[in-house]
Amino acid sequence: MVNSLSKVIDRLQERSNTQLAQCLNQSSAPEKLNDAMRYSVVNGGKRIRPILVYLTAEALGADLTLADKPAAALELIHAYSLIHDDLPAMDDDDLRRGKPSCHKQFDEATAILAGDALQALAFQIIVEADKLSATIKVALVSEMARAAGLEGMVAGQVLDLSHENNNIDLEALEYMHRLKTGALITSSVRFGGLVADANETTLALISDYGNALGLAFQIRDDILDATGSDADIGKPAGSDEARGKATYVTVLGLKEARVRLEAQQSLAKEIASRLGPPGTNLQSLTDFVATRNH
Ligand code: IPE
Ligand code: IPE
Ligand code: MG
Ligand code: MG
Ligand code: MG
Repeated sequence: MVNSLSKVIDRLQERSNTQLAQCLNQSSAPEKLNDAMRYSVVNGGKRIRPILVYLTAEALGADLTLADKPAAALELIHAYSLIHDDLPAMDDDDLRRGKPSCHKQFDEATAILAGDALQALAFQIIVEADKLSATIKVALVSEMARAAGLEGMVAGQVLDLSHENNNIDLEALEYMHRLKTGALITSSVRFGGLVADANETTLALISDYGNALGLAFQIRDDILDATGSDADIGKPAGSDEARGKATYVTVLGLKEARVRLEAQQSLAKEIASRLGPPGTNLQSLTDFVATRNH
């Protein structure tokens, strides 16, 4: 990784971690629920979604304090999606971020409820943010509801499960990836645009960037599942093949998956370059996402 990007990532991860710790510190909820929520949020995670919110806000000239709560909110949604994704009824994976999955460390009911509470908290912290106007809050909440739910992640997860052990074509595969992972990645950059009060043209441009990056992100995840080790990726390697998942690797093979990844990486970088010098970090982050090893 280019040294300067590595510093940027460290700075924004730290900022995000501070915000997340704050959000999870205020609750009077039952101790077990609190523990499960903190366990799944505070320890680890690359924080790619908050970093994208911050980098986009920064590229568009917004004060980063405006991005703090929206960035944390998307990471809470992401953490909830991972807890539920690992449940026995879904991917049935026992390892997450190098530790027992939430339902292994606690129990299934606690994991389900911790996910539920994280999702609700995500909406709460946007609505209660003191630095954002009511108009921007409504736009953020609407965006997040769509990306997390019926028009995004949950819809994609339903397709992911229904495609298990089925032969699907590339079009269906790409559609599923765009929903289950791409929607929240696209929302991350759009969040940066919304807090920066960007115009429709800029929002459309960064949405195109997010769409390309989101697809690249999940293709890389599929490749790492097939080629990485448990120790490298912090989750059970080979889980996709074992469960008969439809992924870029199982549908197209490793070689073609890599070709598709590089195409999305180039596309995302080309779009980010249209932001001029302020978009440089988004270009570098694209390389990081596309070549990451965990
Ligand atoms: C993993 O996401 C789940 C997918 C959507 C592919 P990340 O790779 O961002 O996971 P963490 O947050 O860094 O653990
Ligand atoms: C999950 O995709 C996407 C989510 C919405 C959580 P995966 O099932 O491939 O994610 P990992 O590999 O378990 O992190
Ligand atoms: Mg899954
Ligand atoms: Mg999974
Ligand atoms: Mg995966």
